[in-house]
Amino acid sequence: MRQPKLIKTISEWKSVRGALPQSLGFVPTMGALHEGHASLLRKCKSENSVSVLSIFVNPTQFNNPEDLSRYPATMDADLKLATECAIDYVLAPTAQELYPDGYTFRVQETQFSKTLCGAFRPGHFDGVLSVVLKLLNLVQAHRAYFGEKDYQQFLLIQKMAQAFFLPTEIIACPTIRDDSGLALSSRNRFLTPEERAHARHFPLLLASEFSSVEVKAALEKLGFKVEYIEEQNGRRFGAVQLGSVRLIDNVAY
Ligand code: PAF
Repeated sequence: MRQPKLIKTISEWKSVRGALPQSLGFVPTMGALHEGHASLLRKCKSENSVSVLSIFVNPTQFNNPEDLSRYPATMDADLKLATECAIDYVLAPTAQELYPDGYTFRVQETQFSKTLCGAFRPGHFDGVLSVVLKLLNLVQAHRAYFGEKDYQQFLLIQKMAQAFFLPTEIIACPTIRDDSGLALSSRNRFLTPEERAHARHFPLLLASEFSSVEVKAALEKLGFKVEYIEEQNGRRFGAVQLGSVRLIDNVAY
């Protein structure tokens, strides 16, 4: 298996990008890759002649410094997965390189980003949109792939691409779940075995026939700390805290 070329500087990426042929697919990530990311990488590979993965733990989207400091870094395993998925390039720049302006310039959406997760994580989506705009501008992909687990993020990125006339097509990929129905997430590794077993109630109740108010009450009774359960855009969204881990999910409704 051929290993992807690891590119750590933007200038090297620019010279590589200039020489690349058509049909470029892009999967932006913060690393700590799991099967959910693998599904994005495989779809990207199957639809494009060249596939690029970015790994960058974006500091500006963490409203909680503790969450940033404990975000898992698993570069060796990530590169192994990238190799298995036959990814051609892994772009892993530093924060200094991606933020030469020190984050004095940023993208802000003023409506939808203030709801759901945005209501509980001030500034989170400013950080997400700003870094995704930078990455999309750098990579100049034809298609970029995002997981539906972060459906609010996907919608915001899609609307940003439309608002700024970006040439990249923004593609949503289905949420990948474990056997219990829990949506895969890099943060699931922080659940204790007991919490992991208990976590299955969250997706089950979210997809149930109960009203959002009833789902919230049922989750609270089970010991989850509920941020929100809300229906919007034909989906039911939820965010809960279980032990030290924040879980988010959404289902078509
Ligand atoms: O979904 C993620 O992993 C991140 O929010 C993203 C899109 C890579 C931006 O940092």
